[in-house]
Amino acid sequence: MNDKQNIFSGIQSSGFLTLGNYLGALRNWAKLQHDYNCIFCVVDMHSITVRQNPAALRQRTLEILKLYMASGIDGDENTIFIQSHVSAHAELAWVLGCYSYMGELSRMTQFKEKSGNQHENINSGLFTYPILMASDILLYNTDLVPVGGDQKQHLEITRDIAQRFNSIYGNVFKIPAPYIGKVGARIMSLSDPTKKMSKSDENVNGYIALLDDADTVMRKFKRAVTDSENEIVFREGKDGINNLLNIYSAVTDETIKQTEQKFEGKGYGEFKTAVGEAVVECLRPVWAKYRELSENIDYVEEVYKQGAEKASHLAERTLKKVYKKIGFIPAR
Ligand code: TYM
Repeated sequence: MNDKQNIFSGIQSSGFLTLGNYLGALRNWAKLQHDYNCIFCVVDMHSITVRQNPAALRQRTLEILKLYMASGIDGDENTIFIQSHVSAHAELAWVLGCYSYMGELSRMTQFKEKSGNQHENINSGLFTYPILMASDILLYNTDLVPVGGDQKQHLEITRDIAQRFNSIYGNVFKIPAPYIGKVGARIMSLSDPTKKMSKSDENVNGYIALLDDADTVMRKFKRAVTDSENEIVFREGKDGINNLLNIYSAVTDETIKQTEQKFEGKGYGEFKTAVGEAVVECLRPVWAKYRELSENIDYVEEVYKQGAEKASHLAERTLKKVYKKIGFIPAR
């Protein structure tokens, strides 16, 4: 092992990815990959808290793996794998479930939201979801978890569970910290900028799918909801403009201030077109790499198979330690 710190993060394969996933998570992963030991996982087991069509789930899982790599994450340098390939995640989740409380789980915003949306399928997986996520993270001695702002609460419960376990059994788990980027941490819907950009938005104009084509991206930005003023400044109450400024500065790496200055005196129409164009330019290399990987599925397969092997090795070590501390008799 080297002396770099460890990163773990993941994305569910419950649908296609959006610009929110890209700016809140993927882009930061690509930026951090050379300075940390990175493990990136497609968390397919988390996806089944919502009913999935089996063929679509298989397709999405592969699509997301390819998008990880298309976003610039090097498949040889980093460990990229599929959660259901490493059984230790489910095994540790059982253990940690016995050290998690109903009260803290029922306070999770994501559970409250999701159980509010799917009345007919409020399954227990939806409730215990944060325990599986804690297991994902804690199995790999993770220092840092790069995520969007919406995952902060899940990181907090992960830390609480780890600290609780450590207080009983000694220093078993490393306590992870979230890494939330300054810009892009919360990309909002283009049609209702008071809501998070999400693939489950009923209005397709609300989100940019990472694999939308250039014309679609431009069209959606041109339709983006703004306000009745005509001033491109970041200010409370200007949710639409704030979101566009945030997106523009995230994809161009300019500060919000620089962007405001650049568009001073310009109209909203011109600004929306500029944001659309900047996003298209940012995504072009992702699209090209994605196409390339789609023609090289053998390589993609090799990456996730090797990834699972490396991840299993690390995860088994942690699981063994946990079992020993608890008092389970070693099988071998
Ligand atoms: P998920 O699959 O909903 O989203 C994946 C990542 O994308 C970020 N994100 C956003 N960031 C900015 N603006 C948005 N509109 C936006 N929408 C999504 C999320 O913050 C996340 O970083 N519970 C996790 C998946 C997970 C996980 C893990 C993450 C399972 N185990 C272990 C990290 C570590 C989730 O549902 O993310």
